[in-house]
Amino acid sequence: MSGPEPKPGILDIAHYVPGKSKVEGIDKPIKLSANENALGSSPAAREAYLAASAELNLYPEGRANLLRERLAEAFSLEPERLIFGCGSDELFTLACQTYLEPGDNIVQPAHGFAAWAIAARACGAEVRNAPETTLTVDVDAMLAAIDARTRIVFIANPANPTGTYLTDAEVRRLHAGLPENVLLLYDGAYAEFAVGLEGYADGLQLARDFPNVLTTRTFSKIYGLAALRVGWGYGAPEVVAAMDRIRLPFNVGRPAQAAAVAALADAGFVERSVAHVRKWLPRMSEAFRGFGLEPAPSATNFVTVGFPKVGATAAETEAFLASRGLIVRGLTNYGLADHLRVTVGTDFETEALLSAMTERFGRV
Ligand SMILES: Cc1ncc(COP(=O)(O)O)c(C=O)c1O
Repeated sequence: MSGPEPKPGILDIAHYVPGKSKVEGIDKPIKLSANENALGSSPAAREAYLAASAELNLYPEGRANLLRERLAEAFSLEPERLIFGCGSDELFTLACQTYLEPGDNIVQPAHGFAAWAIAARACGAEVRNAPETTLTVDVDAMLAAIDARTRIVFIANPANPTGTYLTDAEVRRLHAGLPENVLLLYDGAYAEFAVGLEGYADGLQLARDFPNVLTTRTFSKIYGLAALRVGWGYGAPEVVAAMDRIRLPFNVGRPAQAAAVAALADAGFVERSVAHVRKWLPRMSEAFRGFGLEPAPSATNFVTVGFPKVGATAAETEAFLASRGLIVRGLTNYGLADHLRVTVGTDFETEALLSAMTERFGRV
């Protein structure tokens, strides 16, 4: 007996590689590999989560109505244009399942976030990678990659794993070049870290302005609720309604919804998180430059560092840092074998990183 045969292409999909969390022989390593929030999460969110544990016997509210209402208020959005997911990851999958048939394609930048391609390939679609220029989305290359079978164009703004961003003008130029039947999926997982940077816009207005844009956001990063898996999308009513047809009815758990509602109300935590990251980004970048490395400009809570020939490769440095109990992210699976991605940690963690780097590369 040979058993059931997966659909063509399924076994060609490479597993998503998460940031490592363990180092052999080290009890509690410092994890700077998954772009998690160094400050933890809002105490109010933790309390709400615990309070929700009194009702674990109840199904969640399927349309996340309270969260929907509060989010709509907080961002001045129309509640019926919102959709919630088990992390924003699930929304990429739903968008692909809604719009892609075998033989269609998605277009993404060369270093696109890995979950998009997995979702697209699972639908039998081709993934087209448009070259980037200095680790930044190249709008012309993206437009050149589009053909008659393109159904979704993905960008993350700011982007993971590079940390760079496109101005609103550039995003709108990309959008203007798309055929009307192509969905622009604007992944704003790190948007809160970029708001206020020159020319940046978080994509919500774009999704309000056009019927073929879906902007996604997450509670995993700025709100520090990655464990709970809450993502949301904002788009045209037709897009959201179509995706909602295939969304599992109870895809966001009850404690997760409760914690997200409380997290939204804690503006102080969000401000502190942004301030913490903005304090460290320039210090980290300057230190990396001092070591002879090439940090990409970051609009996120991490820095992606290039290793020109400076005596140690990215892989050697990743191994050295691991030996000192520090886990950073190698980017070989993103085609960036000579780069490492380093999340901003707590003060203690980031100082530990920089002193280990000083040990390896010498004084700045
Ligand atoms: C660009 C980007 N999009 C989406 C996600 C996934 O977010 P979520 O936890 O909401 O699924 C991540 C997580 O690392 C990310 O880097």
